Amino acid sequence: MDASVPNPLETLTLDMLRRRTSEKWRHYPADMLPLWVAEMDVVPPEPVIQAVHTAMSLGDTGYPSGDVYPRVLSQFASDRWGWGGLDPERMVTVPDVMTGLVAAVELLTDRDDAVVVCSPVYPPFYGYMRQAGRRILEAPLTPTGRLDPEAIRAVLTQACSTTPQPVLLLANPHNPTGVAHTRDELAAVAAVARDLGARVVADEIHSPLVLDGTEFLPFLSVPGAENAFSVFSASKAWNLAGLKSAVLSAGPEAAADLRRIPWTVNAGVSHVAVIAHCAALEHGGPWLDALLTGLEQNRDRVLSLVDEHLPGVTVSRPQATYLAWLDGTALDLPAPAEDAPSKPFGLTGPAAFFFDHARVALNDGALYGSGGQGFVRLNFGTSSSILREAFERMGTALRKRR
Ligand SMILES: Cc1ncc(COP(=O)(O)O)c(C=O)c1O
Repeated sequence: MDASVPNPLETLTLDMLRRRTSEKWRHYPADMLPLWVAEMDVVPPEPVIQAVHTAMSLGDTGYPSGDVYPRVLSQFASDRWGWGGLDPERMVTVPDVMTGLVAAVELLTDRDDAVVVCSPVYPPFYGYMRQAGRRILEAPLTPTGRLDPEAIRAVLTQACSTTPQPVLLLANPHNPTGVAHTRDELAAVAAVARDLGARVVADEIHSPLVLDGTEFLPFLSVPGAENAFSVFSASKAWNLAGLKSAVLSAGPEAAADLRRIPWTVNAGVSHVAVIAHCAALEHGGPWLDALLTGLEQNRDRVLSLVDEHLPGVTVSRPQATYLAWLDGTALDLPAPAEDAPSKPFGLTGPAAFFFDHARVALNDGALYGSGGQGFVRLNFGTSSSILREAFERMGTALRKRR
C-alpha cells in the first residue's frame, strides 16, 4: 500500500456529506444516518477528478468513441488479477451493469424464459429481469452463504423443462453477503451449467473490492466458463455510480452471441463516464489499495460493533464489498405502528425498527428474495465515526425496546 494515500473513508465530515444530493443522502429525512444504498462516503482519486476536469475544460463532453474502456479493463485484469483472458474484440461498452446484464440475458433467452438467481441477492436482479419479461427461479445459497452447485443443478434442471437455454445470473463477489466465491465453487457452477446447456452471466461489479488480499477470480477465467458472459464496472470500487458506464465481456465461445447485441445498447454510453472509469482503472490503484485497507478496518469494526451493541444479531465476515449482511431473525421486534416513519418507505423487520427507533437507514433484507427476511444489509463504506454513531443509536434502540 502507498502510505502517502490517506484513508479515503476518513476525508469527509458528516456536514459535508449532508450537502450531497445523491440518493443515499437525499432519499430519507436529513437526521437519518444512511448506511443503505451502495454509494461510498469517499471522494474519488485525484486522477479521476483531473480527467473529468480536463474533459470539462476542453468541452470534451460529446459522444464516446472507440473501445478504450475494454482495452483499459483488459489491461487492469492482467495487472491486478494476473489474467490476460479479456479480449477487447469480445467486449462492448454498455451504459451500466444492469443494462449489460439484461442485454446478455436477452441475447441468450426469450420472453417468459427462466433466469436463475442465487438468493438472497441484489434486488434489481429480480426487478430488471421481470421487467424484461423473464421468470425468476431461485437456487438459494447454503446456510453459510456459499454457492450451492447441487441446488443450482436442481433449479436449472427445472428451468430446462420450459426454457431451451436458461441463464444463471451470478454475483461474483456476492451482494449482499460479501462472499468471494472460490475457484472450486465457480468451476463447479460452470460445469453444472455446461452439463445442462445453461449459460452463466456474471455480475463482477464488486470485483476490485476483495479484502485481505483475497484473490479475485473472474468467472470467465474458470475452466468450463468459455461460453459465459461477465459485466464489469469501476463504479462501485471508485464510487462513480453517478458517472455510469460498464463493459460486457464474452468468453471465446460466446463471441458470436455478443455480435448480435443491438447497437442501441452501446449507443447509451456516457463519454465522460468512460473517461472517469478509465482514469480510475489506469491510475486509481494506490487509492484503491488505501480504500481496501480502510474497508478491512471498517469490516472488523462492524464485527465488533455488532457484538458490542446488537445482542441477538449475527453477521458473517465479508471477504469482499463494503456490505455486511446482518441476521436479525432472532430479534423479537415490535411491528411498526401505522404512523411509523418507516411506513411510507415500505420497510419491514429490523430495517423498519432501526429506521423508526434509531434513525439509521439500512437495506431491508426482505427485498433480497428467499432467505432475506429478517436480515438487513449495512453499507460500511463510510467513516469510523459515522459507523460508531449508527451502532450506538441502534444499540440504544434495542435496549429501550425491552
Ligand atoms: C451486484 C450489483 N450489480 C449491479 C449494481 C448496479 O450497477 P449499475 O448502477 O452499473 O447498473 C450494483 C449496485 O450496487 C450491484 O451491487
